[in-house]
Amino acid sequence: MFEMKMEKSWFDAMYARSSVRKYTGAPDKEQLDRLGALCRKVSWQGVTIRMFKGPGLKSQIKGTDVYAVIVAKRGTPMEMEGFMGEALVLEAASMGLGTCWLGAGFVPEIINRNVNLQTDESVHCVIAIGKCDLPAFAPKRKALEKICGMNEEQLKQLGAWQLEAVKAARIAPSAINMQPWRIEADKTSVAVLEPEFVLYKKFAAIDRGICMLHAAVGAFHVGREAIWKKVEGGYAMKA
Ligand SMILES: Cc1cc2nc3c(=O)[nH]c(=O)nc-3n(C[C@H](O)[C@H](O)[C@H](O)COP(=O)(O)O)c2cc1C
Repeated sequence: MFEMKMEKSWFDAMYARSSVRKYTGAPDKEQLDRLGALCRKVSWQGVTIRMFKGPGLKSQIKGTDVYAVIVAKRGTPMEMEGFMGEALVLEAASMGLGTCWLGAGFVPEIINRNVNLQTDESVHCVIAIGKCDLPAFAPKRKALEKICGMNEEQLKQLGAWQLEAVKAARIAPSAINMQPWRIEADKTSVAVLEPEFVLYKKFAAIDRGICMLHAAVGAFHVGREAIWKKVEGGYAMKA
């Protein structure tokens, strides 16, 4: 579950990306081929990601008409959509491309027709992709101590992979930047859990999947491969 072959380049991409809404053009052919290959790689475990070029995005996205659609089979945990979709985001970022997750910024009728949506499938999010002048990396996020419930001294006690995982989880993007996750880390695992109170639930599980992928990329950076398992309120990783 949540199996993924990580790429080393995703670590730096994670610490460089921000959402881009104004692009300088669509990705070129070579870039589209590489993104297509990544989509094939992450299309499993109940999720299919497909690239499109043409109408479908709302006018808040300017300068590109290229986007990826995340299609989920009924019964797939929504975390999987976030987990797989963020792999595409990081791959695009590692190629110098800009991206923006869109839960609202697309036209469902066009998208559903494009993917020939079946009755046992759903589309919750689309990802806009294009060339851009990447803005400086300056994510506004809650403090690590707040999302982990650990003080600086306790964080220092964590092992290298747990620390990289929680630091990477912290900077994950989320719908309206709500960061609807609670991270529990100890000497053996890092868990991404539902917090006690979630203001905006619609995309919260997708957001947590994005956060999980970041945690796994953080651990991979120090040579550890994540293995996820379902726990009460979310998922926990050992590496
Ligand atoms: C599931 C999800 C849905 C999102 N939907 C939209 C959207 O409809 N329109 C938009 O402009 N940004 C959307 N975003 C982008 C977030 O606003 C953005 O990721 C967040 O504010 C953090 O900023 P950053 O990505 O620049 O770090 C979405 C992000 C996620 C993860």
